[in-house]
This record gives sequence, structure tokens and C-alpha cells, in this order.
Amino acid sequence: MLAEIEQVQSTAAAELQAASDPAALEAWRIAYLGSSGRLKSFMEGLKSLPKEQKPAVGQRLNALKKSLEEAYRARQAELGASRAPAGPAIDVTEPGLLHAEALGRRHILTRVREELVEVFARMGFEVAQGPELEDDEHNFVKLNIPADHPARDPIDNFYVDDPREHDRPRMLRSQTSTVQIRVMEAAAAVAASDPAAFGGLAGPIKIVAPGRVYRPDAVDATHSFMFHQLEGLYIDRGVTMADLKSTLLHFARAYFGPDAQVRLRPSYFPFTEPSAEFDMMIRLRPDQPARWIELGGCGMVDPAVLEACGIDPEIWTGFAFGFGIERLAMGKYGIPDIRMLFENDLRFLRQL
Ligand code: DAH
Repeated sequence: MLAEIEQVQSTAAAELQAASDPAALEAWRIAYLGSSGRLKSFMEGLKSLPKEQKPAVGQRLNALKKSLEEAYRARQAELGASRAPAGPAIDVTEPGLLHAEALGRRHILTRVREELVEVFARMGFEVAQGPELEDDEHNFVKLNIPADHPARDPIDNFYVDDPREHDRPRMLRSQTSTVQIRVMEAAAAVAASDPAAFGGLAGPIKIVAPGRVYRPDAVDATHSFMFHQLEGLYIDRGVTMADLKSTLLHFARAYFGPDAQVRLRPSYFPFTEPSAEFDMMIRLRPDQPARWIELGGCGMVDPAVLEACGIDPEIWTGFAFGFGIERLAMGKYGIPDIRMLFENDLRFLRQL
């Protein structure tokens, strides 16, 4: 029996080396270490041996068992290690389903504002900002809007201080034209200590100012107590109405496509002279004719406004424009009701 054991020891070792995949390894385990394998049948045979042979054969069998088990584990580890580089069990490049679905996006108004700023940036306009909590000096006085002007009626504005009791009542700004004043004041203050400056400015001003404005309007399909405007201001020497119109036209073509058109209609604003309202002819869908959309106001900055900011209107001239961002977004995306932009109904937002 001892000879037989030696024989099994060496064939087992050779066969184990030959087992090169998990299935072959398992077959080997069953053949040698399984419940009716070779080891088991030796153990059975041990029982019928003469008593005096048992200790030696028993010892030899224990050694065989130990060596087979060790060899098996070693080979198992070897095969496992060599299999690993063939590819992990989990494909880490596979997109996660739940997370993909939960991904959000920026609100349509945010995206439109960023697109507008981007188009004007290409024409050299920088972004300027001003406070939403303003005072009537910036919202009205320096914009040449006189005290008896209907736009200053407390009924039509969100005053924070009572205008009858304060010299400079605070209010939520009703227009982003306030930022024109803030920017010109700041530029004139810088120019005051610049020996190279002349006429109150050290150089041209070219800004756009996107932001929220507030008016106590009853909410309906086209009105909201809060909405967004984009203001533009360009001050330089020799700026004309032609610059204004070509800037608006460039903007319209860059934003709506090469067929877009711009139309100016004579109008009146206290802070521009002459003043105009501007419309853009845009095509909403390929299958629909283009149509005019009324967008906002514009004009040449009134000399009184420049003077109020310390800028000499004999040297510097400029144009300004302002329009509602919601109105433009509604025109571009065919949105019928301004409330859809503020209600945050996901069924609506997901379509844009
Ligand atoms: N601030 C005006 C409004 O809210 C719009 C406007 C008109 C802005 C003419 C301008 C401008 O800069 O020149 O109705």
C-alpha cells in the first residue's frame, strides 16, 4: 500500500500541474480529495490492514492528505491570479443607471443669460453688475427721470423706504439701467485721479449688465413681479445711432441666425435722446414664417445722464439698450406663458 501511495502522490502532482482552468481544478479535487476520491479509498483500505502496519501507513496517508490539500490551495491561488488580468468581474466603464437619470441641468433662463453674455463678449462687451436693492438716485434721478414722472409712483415700485420721508429712498430696482449709472460713476471716479483722462473718462466703457428687476405688476401670462433684463452701454468718442443699430443687428444674427432682422421704432425714454424701441424678426421653427418680436428700448445716452455722472458730453457719446430676458427666451423657445419660467415644473423644464 505504501508503494501505491507514492504512486498516487506523484501522479496527483503531475495532474494538478496540468489542470489549467477552474473546471479542471475542480475535477482534480473531486478525484483526489472528494468524498469518494483516492484519499478516501486509502482511508477505507487502512481499516483492513494488519494492526502492526497501521501506524506507519496511517502516518504516510496523513502526510499525503496534507500535501494534496496544500498543493490544491497553491494551484487555486495560481489560477486565480493568472485569471485576474483577463478582465474584472465588474465593467467600471458602464454608466450608472440611477445616477444618469438623476442628473440635472441649468435652468433655461440661466442658459439664455449665459448665451447672451457670450455673444456680447465676442463684440467686446464686459459684464457689469449692480445691487438689486437700490436707491431712487440710481433708479431714477441720475437717469433723468423727474420727480413727477409716472414711473416713480410708489404704486408702481417696491419702495423699501417711504419716498415722502427719505431723501434717497431705497427700493428694489425696477430696471437694470441703474447699472449704467453705477458703471459711469465708478469709471469717472477712477478717471478723477488719472492724469491721462479727459472729459471725465480715462477710456471707453463697453458693458452688458444682466440681472433681476422688480415691479409690482399683477402676474399673468406676460407679467411677473420679478423678471430679468439685459442692459448694454457703450461710451466712446464719436459713437452714433448707426453703431447702436449694427450692434443690435450683429447680436440678432449671432443669436437667432443669419436671417434675423432688427427694426427701430421712434420712442421716448428720459435717459436717451433720441430713443427707440427695437424689434427682432426671428423664425421660431423652420416650417413657420419669421415674425417681429418686440424686445426692448434703446437710444443715444442723454447728455444730462453723462453730466450727472461727471462725464463731458461734448467729448464722450454713447448708446444704451435694455431688454427683457424672459421675453427673448419666450420668443426663441416658443414659451407661451412667463409663469412657466418660474414655476419649476419639471415636465416643462425637461423639454428645454
Ligand atoms: N430701462 C428700460 C425699461 O426697463 C429699457 C431701456 C430703454 C433701457 C432704453 C435702455 C434704453 O438702456 O436706452 O423699460
